[in-house]
Amino acid sequence: MNHGILKEVDQIDNFDFFRQFESLSEMLLLKNWYRSMLILDELIPICIDEEYSIFKRPHLKKINHHIYREFKHAKRVSFYAKQLALALSCSICDIYTIEQSGFVHDFGKLIIDHRILYKEDTLSHNEWQIIKKHPQFGAELLSLSKHYRHLIPAVAQHHEWWNGSGYPNGLRGEEILFNARVLSVVDAYDAMTCNRSYQKRIESDAAVAEIKRCAGSQFDPEIVSVFTDKVIKKQDCSIFKNVQLIGC
Ligand SMILES: [Fe+2]
Repeated sequence: MNHGILKEVDQIDNFDFFRQFESLSEMLLLKNWYRSMLILDELIPICIDEEYSIFKRPHLKKINHHIYREFKHAKRVSFYAKQLALALSCSICDIYTIEQSGFVHDFGKLIIDHRILYKEDTLSHNEWQIIKKHPQFGAELLSLSKHYRHLIPAVAQHHEWWNGSGYPNGLRGEEILFNARVLSVVDAYDAMTCNRSYQKRIESDAAVAEIKRCAGSQFDPEIVSVFTDKVIKKQDCSIFKNVQLIGC
């Protein structure tokens, strides 16, 4: 345990959050998935409700860069998913479920070796097969949760494609859960507009053009039209600027 970091975070707000985050790092390293999910059960509501500023604290990066990076992506996707659910006129209950699903959608990546996840060179066939298992890993992790098992179907299906070419099960059209179709669009938008180890970020306009191009193949075309016509147009408002400040 790094007492230097603990002493430092002891001076600031949200100490419990940082202590939990550090415990999560330790449990993931020990491959103690049950204990990891118990800690995540505590962190998920804090992360969803917390101000965006908590994700800009450098202390998190010192504790575990791998988890820090995934949490920032999770927070942004959760935000975009909520905005899209609002624009789709979902019920209050469904909006909250979609927001939660956005936060946990890639939790399966927490248990993938970061040397594979953040590899800058081309992935081998076997490495790519491991990455493609993250929806199932996420579902298995959530099956250990006390409070979030209801999110498992959306997490398991968020890489399915509208035309049946996705993974893991090649579901198509409305066979894919609505919440998973929503996540698919916002996840792709965030992936394109933030730097990844294997690709540089592109501007929002270019990402929107790519999402439109893939409407009807990768994405549900009706969800794409609501995302591009209603959600993206709000980008100049302060709430959008806050989430973009989290950084990649
Ligand atoms: Fe994913």
